Amino acid sequence: MIRLYLLEWISLFLKFFHVIVGIAWIGASFYFNWLENKLKRVGNRDEIAGHLWAVHGGGFYYLEKYKQYPHELPEPLHWFKWEAYFTWISGFLLLTVVYYFNANSYLLLPGSEMSTYVAVLLSISGLILVWVVYDLLCKSVLVDRPAIFILVMLSFVSISAYLYSLVFNPMAVYMQLGAMLGTIMVANVFFVIIPIQKLLVKACQDRTQVSAELGTNGYVRSRHNNYFTLPVLFTMISGHYPIVYSSEYSWAVLIVVFVIAVIIRHYFNLKGVGQTKNSLIGLIVVSLVLLIFYLAPVKVDTTATESVSTEQVQKIINRRCASCHSASPTDDVFRVAPAGLALDTIEQIKVNIDRIYQNTVATQSMPFSNKTNMTIQERADISSWFDRVSNE
Ligand code: HEC
Repeated sequence: MIRLYLLEWISLFLKFFHVIVGIAWIGASFYFNWLENKLKRVGNRDEIAGHLWAVHGGGFYYLEKYKQYPHELPEPLHWFKWEAYFTWISGFLLLTVVYYFNANSYLLLPGSEMSTYVAVLLSISGLILVWVVYDLLCKSVLVDRPAIFILVMLSFVSISAYLYSLVFNPMAVYMQLGAMLGTIMVANVFFVIIPIQKLLVKACQDRTQVSAELGTNGYVRSRHNNYFTLPVLFTMISGHYPIVYSSEYSWAVLIVVFVIAVIIRHYFNLKGVGQTKNSLIGLIVVSLVLLIFYLAPVKVDTTATESVSTEQVQKIINRRCASCHSASPTDDVFRVAPAGLALDTIEQIKVNIDRIYQNTVATQSMPFSNKTNMTIQERADISSWFDRVSNE
């Protein structure tokens, strides 16, 4: 009991920290990407690649980018790396506290026979394997063939999503895939981008030439990170939206969302360099509409159901929901009512009729992992009760 209570606090602090450092990291990354696109490429001095004026927060700013490096190594020279490292560290700790410590409820499919240790091991192996595969691809000739590169990466990610969906619950599959892509992003910073910057600094001190290949390498990795950003951010918020992850082929839905997110990023990158491709907007809108249409909830068949009274619904809720959604829950994991939602009384049930319908019938995301084994008939009963009461 006290352990679970403390874990909640740890999870809250970690999430708060994770979001803050994540914003700092992605914010800086968006900013520098923007800067690179907006630099005015007419230097008044030879060594300058471009410059830029900006006004922000009550002041004018002037920035210059060097083609190679300045005459002397400037002091202090600011680096951007801890944001990335702390985002990954706090993210991994969160994954541990929320998903690994409660692997039976959060990670595994309901009723799974798999040991929680094996589940955690599978999850961690995925984080490592995706980096190994991606890094090998980047070092192979395929890095110069974007179409094949994207196809191989997408296949690997899709197969992972499918395989994880065989053992993990859908919410965990989304989080796992997000964590895998996030791991690539941080590993790119740690293993490639920062080492290259160190070589750059060394070249500046020794006044030696920087090989063009080095610059290209760093550029490719940071470009990839730029494209990973939206998919990763999507997985981080998707857990709150069962409309997305509770469909039958939720792993495939995730892949479609990934592709759309990458195209959105691509649109903005092109726009940044003055090539607005409106056809991409068309593609994005059409895919989104199709996806929304596909994910629309199927109406539960209620023709055979007799008129269901609120008292009957209360019995169902008592049986299937109250172990968690109560002023005093009896569930082994959830010791305070999740989402602050208690459904002990008829009044509480009536007030929350829309939410109950949404979660038990429309998306069927409740009961959580269907831990209490709610039946299709019970969902149909709630559906016909909802139709009757909300039309009264
Ligand atoms: C095993 C515990 C458990 C059971 C049983 C359970 N829930 Fe939940 N419920 C949760 C958790 C955990 C959340 C929070 C999920 C989240 O944050 O994404 C939640 C969230 C909700 C929400 C809020 C979702 C939102 O964002 O609006 C509703 C509504 C809900 N449950 C309804 C129900 C109903 C109705 C039942 C019974 C049919 C039920 N739950 C059974 C654990 C449970």
